[in-house]
Amino acid sequence: MASKPMFLLLLLLFLPFKLQCSSPQTWIKAGYWDSSGELPASDINSALFTHLFCAFAYVNSTSYQLLINSSKEQPFSEFTNTVKLKNPSITTLLSIRVGKSESTTFSLMINQTSNRKSFIKSSVRTARLYGFHGLDLVGVMPRNSTNMTSLGTFLDEWRAEVDSESRNSGKTQLLLTMSFGRVPTVNSVSYPIDSAKRNLDWVNIIAYDYYVPTVDRFTGVHAALYDPFGGANTDAGIREWLQRGFSADKLVLGLPYHGFGWTLVNSGENDIGSPASGPAVTIDGSMGYKLIKSFIQNYGYGAESVYNSTYVVSFCKIGSNWINFDDVEAIKAKVSYAKAKGLLGYNVFQLSNDENWLLSQAAYGIGTSQREKQQQLLVIVLVTVAAVILLMGTIVCYLQIKIFKSQGILATLKKSVSRMRPKISSDEKQDNSAPNLQVFSFNSIKAATDNFSSENKLGQGGYGPVYKGMLPKGQQIAVKRLSKTSNQGLEEFKNEVTLTARLQHVNLVRVMGICTEREEKMLIYDFMPNKSLDFYLFVAMFLQNMLRKEPTL
Ligand SMILES: *[C@@H]1O[C@H](CO)[C@@H](O)[C@H](O)[C@H]1NC(C)=O
Ligand SMILES: *[C@@H]1O[C@H](CO)[C@@H](O)[C@H](O)[C@H]1NC(C)=O
Ligand SMILES: *[C@@H]1O[C@H](CO)[C@@H](O)[C@H](O)[C@H]1NC(C)=O
Ligand SMILES: *[C@@H]1O[C@H](CO)[C@@H](O)[C@H](O)[C@H]1NC(C)=O
Ligand SMILES: *[C@@H]1O[C@H](CO)[C@@H](O)[C@H](O)[C@H]1NC(C)=O
Ligand SMILES: *[C@@H]1O[C@H](CO)[C@@H](O)[C@H](O)[C@H]1NC(C)=O
Repeated sequence: MASKPMFLLLLLLFLPFKLQCSSPQTWIKAGYWDSSGELPASDINSALFTHLFCAFAYVNSTSYQLLINSSKEQPFSEFTNTVKLKNPSITTLLSIRVGKSESTTFSLMINQTSNRKSFIKSSVRTARLYGFHGLDLVGVMPRNSTNMTSLGTFLDEWRAEVDSESRNSGKTQLLLTMSFGRVPTVNSVSYPIDSAKRNLDWVNIIAYDYYVPTVDRFTGVHAALYDPFGGANTDAGIREWLQRGFSADKLVLGLPYHGFGWTLVNSGENDIGSPASGPAVTIDGSMGYKLIKSFIQNYGYGAESVYNSTYVVSFCKIGSNWINFDDVEAIKAKVSYAKAKGLLGYNVFQLSNDENWLLSQAAYGIGTSQREKQQQLLVIVLVTVAAVILLMGTIVCYLQIKIFKSQGILATLKKSVSRMRPKISSDEKQDNSAPNLQVFSFNSIKAATDNFSSENKLGQGGYGPVYKGMLPKGQQIAVKRLSKTSNQGLEEFKNEVTLTARLQHVNLVRVMGICTEREEKMLIYDFMPNKSLDFYLFVAMFLQNMLRKEPTL
């Protein structure tokens, strides 16, 4: 009796896969998921993408093997299965970052046969172990310290290993991709173009951050598609790549989900190229699209963003703040450009900065044909129907079992104030839904700051003092202790924690955790000795201003 519905269910489950396989992957719609950002992998709208990059892994500086921080092992190993729920045909890649501080390690790795072998073997092994379909390398710059000849050799060997692993295991070959800059040559050092063409499935072009407020003393457009006055622009870069013999169908265009804020020297002069005195809003001026939108909403009474179709950029002016970013029109125009140029697709950086999937949907709409859209819809409907049937079955079977347990601190924060008290009290315990947010006991903070000693006091703001401290393992922290006389209630404190978590763009300070024991309200940040106290006070004041929701500009 049960066989008929079972058969139907199986049909429903497998039909989508068949449909997906019948349309070969031609247009790449990719995006980076930064594991240290606010967005949980389970919230990614993966139906809007064909490829997702899980970021970041590193290179171990002693063994040269692939390194995944222990706190990321679980989220990384679950990533592929998690994003497959909303898009069974999604392809995932593990992204490895070579930042400024890792560039020496990387140079040493690619310079020695045995080191290359350690990295290559371990990266392929790890990709398979965690269920990724490919590997990606980010941040390698053509500069003196990186030997481009060695990089070419490294790519040959990486591809050879991927080939032979696939032959021996019978599995589909892992994808190999890398991020390169806007132009193929920087300070007359060139990327190893031939090796990249030969060995990589494609190259992601970092088509943004051309002008930044910490460097350029004029309002620059950081990701202009064109520039009639000959400034850095994406189109000129792509042309250079093609001139160098790189094939268009191996280039994927990077789209920024962030912009930059400049402080105008003269608020009357606010066009592109106007004098600016430095960053606005955040310490380096960088702002995620989501933050830009909320900034305009909170402060920009009557401020409208202007879309300049000559450059293909948007900007807006609020007081003396001038913010440049890619809004929906710019994203659409860039995706159309990539199609017209015969590029392979686009790649967004990064997902957690999108506002309610607005930009991702715009890009998806341009990049997808009507037929593909209908197919996608059919797949979604079928998967949903199958999932609902399965779910109902599961509910019937496990009706007795209580499965809902507390989800820990983030969930707790979202609940009512009266339930603010954290359920975890150990300092080291971390929560799955917020792997980076820890709950500290009062005593551990007291010990770390030497009983809030005056030597450790970094300064005093209107909201209370900020202390420097050190955890038993040697990690340096900054503690913001809200004064008891401060009228910031638990509700506002809660807002601040979630807001700060939302602000965790690469250059902002990281909130490690909170302490709410004994009527205390303390925020614990990573202490970065090279950032000044002003920076911490600034972040705190900025948040405070945001919370007040009144124009203070
Ligand atoms: C790097 O590799 C060495 C040797 O295998 C190991 O002892 C060390 O723990 C690794 N470092 C990290 C940060 O995992
Ligand atoms: C991961 O480990 C690297 C190297 O040990 C370290 O530099 C980095 O800060 C860690 N990242 C996170 C998010 O913990
Ligand atoms: C790379 O190796 C060569 C010889 O094997 C050595 O002379 C050179 O200094 C090394 N370069 C770096 C950046 O370590
Ligand atoms: C980089 O290389 C160029 C030319 O090879 C040289 O003139 C310059 O001094 C080098 N810079 C550094 C920082 O090594
Ligand atoms: C660059 O790499 C090549 C090939 O791996 C090697 O022969 C050469 O010594 C390296 N040069 C430097 C300056 O590291
Ligand atoms: C775009 O900006 C440039 C430079 O400020 C200006 O000359 C041009 O008229 C603008 N175009 C549009 C369509 O706004």
